[in-house]
Amino acid sequence: MSVFSNSSFSEHELVAFHNDNRSGLKAIIAVHSSTLGPSVGGCRMYPYASEEDALHDVLRLSRGMTYKSALAGLPFGGGKSIIIGDPRKQKTRALLEAMGDFVHSLGGRYITAEDVGTGVADIRAIAQRTPYVTGLEDTQHGGDPSPSTALGVFLGIRAAVRHRYGKDSLNGLTISIQGLGHVGYRLARLLIEDGATVYGADINAANLELAVEELGVRPAASDEVLFLPVDVVAPCAMGAVWNRRSIAKLRAGIICGAANNQLATREDGDRLSQLDVLYCPDFLVNAGGIIEAHHQRQDSSESVRLTHIKRIETILAEVLKLSCERQVSSESVAEAMAEDILRGKEGVNHSIAA
Ligand code: NAI
Repeated sequence: MSVFSNSSFSEHELVAFHNDNRSGLKAIIAVHSSTLGPSVGGCRMYPYASEEDALHDVLRLSRGMTYKSALAGLPFGGGKSIIIGDPRKQKTRALLEAMGDFVHSLGGRYITAEDVGTGVADIRAIAQRTPYVTGLEDTQHGGDPSPSTALGVFLGIRAAVRHRYGKDSLNGLTISIQGLGHVGYRLARLLIEDGATVYGADINAANLELAVEELGVRPAASDEVLFLPVDVVAPCAMGAVWNRRSIAKLRAGIICGAANNQLATREDGDRLSQLDVLYCPDFLVNAGGIIEAHHQRQDSSESVRLTHIKRIETILAEVLKLSCERQVSSESVAEAMAEDILRGKEGVNHSIAA
């Protein structure tokens, strides 16, 4: 398995591997950048098909976290961790504590949180062995990030709809959501409250049923939900959903969802741009959760938090405008903005620091 020559390696500062025979833990932590502060990013547990897949995922996810925190004006770098395994079968207390020891061994260069396959209870177990965690239900560690993540994505959808249709409300629009978990469910509620008709799918039947019964989401098939003839499609499950084949089947004009790393490759961003699909970079619109975590740790007021999360709408509007003017993908524009911030050239025409 190559690391430095891996296609997702992007001058990462540190990649650490850990094997704990006693608990069965096999994990990787990747610190992409600590230029702006300690690296922060969730801990994903997933039954990766291969170790290469796991490495590829953690490298891409940690890089996305660098851009996310930079664009959000946060004093954090980008990092991520993954545990190789099925969270429904292999997650044990001993494994989580061993993960806590692994996180602790980096001495604070990486701060962990929930992600796909891990929840607040798991992070609490990790926190038994290290203080380097966030996303717990207390002011010391921050709170559940999902409601704020959903709010950020909702604001992103509003900015994209305003850009494309000149409308301030979602009334009468149709939106499909892939994945009705922590973020997708809350996003559906915000969209419906704003007058949109929401279609949703989830491979977990219980999650779909809840959204249908409690919110009035219209059920869709999991393999069709990304390709419905709707105004907006919101991927809120796993990443890499947009590739040559899926883009060919796309019928929505706007993509805006929470899932990290939605583009399988950089070329897929160019493809969407050439098809005049408004793609809202995931690392920009899903930053609400990390912004919330930051302000909970600071004990900021509700209005300070909300004002900061609302910047997502303003920054996305700027990204979409520049993307149209320059005829380059929105992903490239957002990455260039983040890199300017990392190089200390922030605020040329987009003052976004908190
Ligand atoms: P979650 O695990 O609570 O929900 C994901 C849902 O997607 C689950 O209900 C799952 O059954 C469903 N799902 C998985 N594969 C699917 C498929 N092929 N078709 C339909 N449904 C499928 O995760 P959460 O927290 O809602 O996060 C969703 C996405 O947003 C993830 O990619 C995560 O990395 C990203 N994200 C989440 C943040 C948060 O605050 N929770 C923050 C930033 C990004």
